[in-house]
Amino acid sequence: MAMLPRVTLVFGTRPEAIKMAPVVRAFRADARFAPRVVVTGQHRQMLDAVLATFEIVPDADLNVMTPDQSLAGLTARTLTAFDAELRAHPADLVLVQGDTTAAFAAGLTAFYHRTPVGHVEAGLRTGDLQSPWPEEANRVLLTRLATLHFAPTAATRDNLLWDGVPAGRIHLVGNTVVDALHLALARLDRAPVEVPGLPPGFLPGGGPLVLVTGHRRENFGPGFEAICHAVADLARLFPAARFVYPVHLNPNVRGPVGEILRAAGAANVALLEPLGYLEFLTLFRRAAVVLSDSGGVQEEAPTLGKRVVLMRDTTERPEAVASGHVQLVGPHRERIVAATSAILNGSAPPLLPGNPYGDGHAATAIADVCHAHLSGVPA
Ligand code: UD1
Ligand code: UDP
Repeated sequence: MAMLPRVTLVFGTRPEAIKMAPVVRAFRADARFAPRVVVTGQHRQMLDAVLATFEIVPDADLNVMTPDQSLAGLTARTLTAFDAELRAHPADLVLVQGDTTAAFAAGLTAFYHRTPVGHVEAGLRTGDLQSPWPEEANRVLLTRLATLHFAPTAATRDNLLWDGVPAGRIHLVGNTVVDALHLALARLDRAPVEVPGLPPGFLPGGGPLVLVTGHRRENFGPGFEAICHAVADLARLFPAARFVYPVHLNPNVRGPVGEILRAAGAANVALLEPLGYLEFLTLFRRAAVVLSDSGGVQEEAPTLGKRVVLMRDTTERPEAVASGHVQLVGPHRERIVAATSAILNGSAPPLLPGNPYGDGHAATAIADVCHAHLSGVPA
């Protein structure tokens, strides 16, 4: 019997794990492949939480995270560790996701092994290499290295064509985050979860829920200070509202949040540890609005019918802006307060129906394309 094609799926941060979980599921359930799941461990605790939620046991764990890691150090450790992994377990195809350092470094290592790379969530662009930083560079570099490009939307496909990627290498499959959401929401409908760490009486019954997340490197310093002051202002302006902020583990985020928000001591602001995916979605489903600089949160908003006030100057997700789910305000105190106040006061424009990020079948579409490619059938 011919050997099955060896496909290595590699990822390491919370958002990559969420978006690759359905892909892992699809490949492990598919008798056409011999898949291998390798985690870099770029996000030790936040990755492990997602692996547990989706019941994924990796085949290898590169365990590269160090406290307050530098981008160069992280890249170097991932290159070295994934090089050893690919020497021990050669692959016919390596799948990476998105725009993290883990994804770029793993893609570069595969390229050095002359192993083709499939890029999941390809073609996102802001056109500004400094924002998001370093992710925009990671995306552009992965486009140069990859053989298969899985575009989530028509706009991202067009970006890839504009970059000179041959049309036959681009596959419009939707965003796997919709697949992940469908899996998670079905689980929640069967078995609701408690949100750990909420102060007593915070939910339900209180006023509208405002959920907050933030972690972008280009917001470190003044951007984060503005975000924290905006949340403190809103907590004063809307005393009946409940603000829940699960704080990212990056010490550059925890510093200002501790100094400004914890010090403000507002009784209607709860600062929590990062939440598991099911717990986070439990709050997202109940939220009146989400204040965020996250990529994944922007893409989840249309499925959940929610509004996001985006605390960034640029976005690579124009679809969610066009549908009204995302409002781009930048990390600016007054603009965050104004946009959030309008939503809480009920004066925001209506949301368009439909979901620009797909139908939740991206993962099996990716498996089909990989099979066609690996068996030499033109896609
Ligand atoms: C990373 C990605 C970013 C992605 C984000 C999602 C890069 C350069 N950055 O940013 O693209 O949007 O994840 O959240 O790839 N830490 C822990 N435990 C964890 C996770 C992080 O302690 O589980 C702390 C460590 O001190 C670590 C630091 O956070 O060194 C920074 O982690 P890192 O992955 O380098 O950057 P993020 O800001 O998390
Ligand atoms: N998320 C989570 N717990 C949290 C905050 C976010 O599970 O406490 C999920 C969120 O639903 C989304 C993903 O994490 O799917 C986004 O991760 P993050 O914002 O860290 O990264 P980005 O998408 O910006 O790269």
